[in-house]
Order: sequence, then structure tokens, then C-alpha cells
Amino acid sequence: MKVMLLGSGGREHAFAWKMAQSPRCQKLFIAPGNAGTAELGQNVPISPNDFPAVAQFALEKEVELVVVGPEEPLVRGIADFFAADPALQHIGLVGPHREGGRLEGRKAFRKACRQGHGRPRGAYRGFSAGQLEGGLAYLAECPTPIVLKADGLAAGKGVLILDDPAEAQREFRAMLEGKFGAAGKTVVVEAFLSGREFSVFALTDGSAYALLPVAKDYKRVGEGDTGLNTGGMGSVSPVSFVDEALLQKVETRIVQPTMQGIREEGLRYRGFLFFGLIEVKGEPHVIEYNCRMGDPETQVVFPRLQNDLLELFEALLQGRLSQVSIEKDPQAAAAVILVSGGYPGPYEKGKAIRGLDRPADSLIFHAGTTRQGGEVRTSGGRVLAVTSLADTVSQALKTTYTHIRLIEFEGKYFRGDIGYDL
Ligand code: GLY
Repeated sequence: MKVMLLGSGGREHAFAWKMAQSPRCQKLFIAPGNAGTAELGQNVPISPNDFPAVAQFALEKEVELVVVGPEEPLVRGIADFFAADPALQHIGLVGPHREGGRLEGRKAFRKACRQGHGRPRGAYRGFSAGQLEGGLAYLAECPTPIVLKADGLAAGKGVLILDDPAEAQREFRAMLEGKFGAAGKTVVVEAFLSGREFSVFALTDGSAYALLPVAKDYKRVGEGDTGLNTGGMGSVSPVSFVDEALLQKVETRIVQPTMQGIREEGLRYRGFLFFGLIEVKGEPHVIEYNCRMGDPETQVVFPRLQNDLLELFEALLQGRLSQVSIEKDPQAAAAVILVSGGYPGPYEKGKAIRGLDRPADSLIFHAGTTRQGGEVRTSGGRVLAVTSLADTVSQALKTTYTHIRLIEFEGKYFRGDIGYDL
């Protein structure tokens, strides 16, 4: 099978790594990819948001399967674009249609929130630019901490948790005035839930679903979960506090009602569904949905997934997902992200990365990297994920931290406490 993968992050390197292992994978194209994916297939300089260029390339190269990594092309409607063109009907596409990409605003989400002990009624509200005064008045009544969330795409960065009501009002105003660009057109004000976060992933056709290994990511830039939110500084799988009983509650109270909502609304959903959850006193609550895999969760979920990923995609597209059983490696996986100094604020690019070829028992997933001449250089905030597998999460972390010290680039930063709370 000829496969085209869209995206360029660590998540996409993990997709490429997993799909390249499949005996079904004849040829793998990655658009646009990074220095890591170039080792596994052919990078092509096409933006995932340029749908006509993606389609033309897929037709020219006789691609049979397009796998969409990031959220943006899904929310912009790449699945709708492919479905609308008769010349593209023979190409399978893994990713929901546009309406499925914005599940949070839909009945499926509200249903899961109600049945899945989601946010208590009235504890969250959205405000758009014309509602500044109303929003400020609402904020004045909210208990702290207050969560402000840019409702559009902000790659996980448009979330602020604030203890000071005056600061919350200032930030609320700044967000509506464009701090996060168009993503902040609507700002959601939420009650803060104090608990332990974790991530659950389903591959689904909107009816049948297969649950992948559970993971947890670490979003704040500073140790002890302090400082600014990032796309994610590390991840582990499995998650010790997510036992069978909690997972059962997640499935019956959150996953199944979501599927029911998707069916009732007739949404066309064939792809990944990411449930961002929080455990509070043994109960799962929904924080957010995403229509894609998580990053950096994918970098620990796929190394533990023993199924052939292309076989899973074939089952998804042929309506056979209910017959699939997910096989998990009993080993634990842990990933730590190396970032450019200054991230998630301004940072420099173009730094030479050394030590990538040092042998160690870890996987290296590239994110913000590019090859210039013979050298791999930094090209983004999150640069690499180093993932290790071992009998326990703490052993896996030990291997990862040993390996991380072998990799060097100017300004390298990482959190030294991934998994500290488990
Ligand atoms: N790791 C969180 C996300 O992918 O949104």
C-alpha cells in the first residue's frame, strides 16, 4: 500500500515509524515531514492545509491511504474535500469530516459531559468579542482559580489558569482582543478541576471503536507542573492511577455516550478521538476532546501498540473495526521532550544537534528538526522526543534521561521530573 502522511511533528514521526514497520507499507510519503521522517519515507514539500496539492500528489503517486496527523487540516475540512471529489473516492482517508473536528460544540460532547460527570452545569461559558462586558461581569463572580481557554486552534497553548481575578480579567480582555489570534475569537471560562489528568484515545468509525493504550502528558514547561502551558513536555503510558475500574467508568460514561452522540447527529467520523480527562476522587471528568492523536502521547502510545497500524486503518475504512482486538505491549513507555531554550516563548532555530547517532536503548522521535547539508538542525520549539520502553515507567524514564544527556544542541532544555507524580 502507498501511504501519504500529513504533518511534521513528533506525533507524525511516531506515525511514520509505526506504519513503516507494516509489511503492507510499500511506499510512505510524508508532507512535509521532518529530518526524522525522512529516514523512514520520502518527505514532500506540501502543506497539509493545501488540499488541492495533497490530492494532486496523491493521484500522481497512486497513493491509496492518506493519514492526517494534525488538527488543522481536519477542522478545515480535508475529509470533506476528498469526499466531494469523484476522482479521489478510491483513496482512504483517516480523519473525521469538518463537523467531527469540532466535537466540543456538539451534542456528543454535552452528552458525555452530562453522563460522564463532565463540567458541572453552568460552570463554564463561552464569550465572543461582542460580549466583553458580560464576560468581565461573569468573571467577577467566578471562584478562583479560573481557566480561560481560547476556543479555536491554539495547539494546546491557548489555555491559562489564573489565581488572581484581576489578572483573569486582563487576560480575558487580551484574548478577546487577539492575543491568540483567531483562536481567541471565543474565550471559554471554566471552573478549575483539581485532579490528575490523563488521555484516552479511540480509533473509531463513529460506531465501533478500539481503545488504545492510556497515556498521560505533562503540559507545563516548568518542573512540578509550573510555568506556561506548552504542547507537552513529556508523556508516559500506562498511567498507574488509571486502573480497570476507572477505565470502565471512562468507557461507559464518556466514550460510549460520545459514540451515541456522534451516531445520533449522523457525523461522519473515521479517525482518532482524543479524550482529555481528569480524575477527581476516583471519577473521570471530561476536559476536552480532540479529533487527532495527542503529541507527545503518540510517542508512548504507538511504541506500546502491538497491532499493525495499517491493518487497523484498513479495518477502520472497511467497517471491520468491531472485529479488531488491540494488543498492548505490557512494557511501560516514557518520553521526554527536548525543547529549544525559551520555548514556549521566543526561541532561536538552526542549532546543530549532536549525539543523535549515539547508540542507546531508546527511540528518538523528531519534531522541530530539519536536515541542512549533512547536519540535523533545530527548526522548532519542541525538537525531539526520547522514548524508552522498560518493565516500569520509572525504569523507562531512567533510560530516557540517560539517553537525553548524550544529545546536545545549544539552548537544549527538558523537564527533569516527567512522571514525578505517579
Ligand atoms: N498533548 C496534548 C495534545 O496533544 O493536545
